[in-house]
Amino acid sequence: MRKKIVAGNWKMNKTFNEAEDLLFNISDLLKENPVAGAQVLVCPPALYLELAADIAHENGFDCGAQNLSEHESGAFTGEISAAMIASTGAKYVIIGHSERRTYFGEKDDLLAVKVSQALKHGLIPVYCCGEILAEREENRHFDVVGGQISQALFHLSPDDFAKVVVAYEPVWAIGTGRTASPEQAQEMHAYIRKVLAGKFGDAAKETTILYGGSCNAANARELFAKPDVDGGLIGGASLKAEDFVKIAHSF
Ligand code: 13P
Repeated sequence: MRKKIVAGNWKMNKTFNEAEDLLFNISDLLKENPVAGAQVLVCPPALYLELAADIAHENGFDCGAQNLSEHESGAFTGEISAAMIASTGAKYVIIGHSERRTYFGEKDDLLAVKVSQALKHGLIPVYCCGEILAEREENRHFDVVGGQISQALFHLSPDDFAKVVVAYEPVWAIGTGRTASPEQAQEMHAYIRKVLAGKFGDAAKETTILYGGSCNAANARELFAKPDVDGGLIGGASLKAEDFVKIAHSF
């Protein structure tokens, strides 16, 4: 079901005590000024998931992991399964972030398996897509993103597809301070919805599509005002409670 979401991707940041502080600070700010009509979500490093789930659920927000294994269980040293994530109380998992694609060689066929694995264990996939700068400059960004969407999501049943959240994160905007303009974001979000509609029909109208890439407290409102932008996946600005909660109030 389509909803407004502001999700914080903490990436590989925060020690245990820092993570606890950030979670309590977010909780305090949300208590003072509750966010109505949007889901707030934090995605800390996996080893803080149980802590985050406990604090989040007591305070009206949610949490998710940043990655998961494509395997069910077994001899995969260092990996974390969907069942493990679900058992912490986390509800979401980011899949296919550009940093996983770039630094860990994750490709769409693997990500398709990860999406299915998440759904099998009741986790909501936040499936990330987005082009690099050269692809946009060569005017290939629609083809690239369309391919990422079809290859990792088109195998899903209608029931499973209905649970998926998509995040459009142009790689050139991630951590660069160079945000997509609201018009660029809207154009791509509308395109993603069209690609999804080509496969899943009217169900695509119910898909939540988030924008990510240098989204912050100063620019979130104009991005979120666009009709196909249902919220944000926030990196750097999610590491400061005030900024993150301000973004969550930007609808
Ligand atoms: P920044 O907000 O730091 O650009 O990161 C975006 C991102 O990658 C969220 O997943």
